[in-house]
Amino acid sequence: MTDPVDDEENYPPRPRWMGWAIAVVMAAAALGVAHIGWRIMQVSPAEQAAQHPELAGGRKLVEASDCMRCHGWERHYVGPSFVAIAERYRDRPDAAEHLARKIREGSVGEWGNTIMPRHPQIDQDQSLQMARWLLATRPAEQRD
Ligand code: HEC
Repeated sequence: MTDPVDDEENYPPRPRWMGWAIAVVMAAAALGVAHIGWRIMQVSPAEQAAQHPELAGGRKLVEASDCMRCHGWERHYVGPSFVAIAERYRDRPDAAEHLARKIREGSVGEWGNTIMPRHPQIDQDQSLQMARWLLATRPAEQRD
């Protein structure tokens, strides 16, 4: 029973395709890990600012103004979350101009019946910076 020749017969060498199958599974796992890592890297607005230094001014303006009283980055409070706004307008070529105008002039009826007040103290350039920054935000689970 302990004859090594017997063992050879009980355990034939792995077929060639199995090596390929293992390689494919490993590659998929590596991609998955890389994808999760990429998502973690982009989670917070602060990290996003680090990746978009040209937009950091917009973030400062948003956080220095009254916006965060009504908006959350990911959660709907009085107004829609900034990531929801980014989702909705990202594919519009005039998104930044449109949102910049809404920030200055106020809005109602796009998301519901709650009114967003006007911000006459914010000039066109500042509102554009804010809008560009908002459009760059991504929900944590959809960053890719
Ligand atoms: C008093 C609460 C309040 C404040 C303060 C506020 N918002 Fe809003 N915001 C809202 C509400 C409510 C809506 C949804 C309006 C609608 O349905 O059209 C909204 C909508 C928006 C939209 C989307 C407009 C659209 O056309 O879809 C943007 C962009 C926005 N706000 C940015 C800002 C920025 C930037 C600030 C700070 C300068 C700010 N908001 C301050 C309540 C507020």
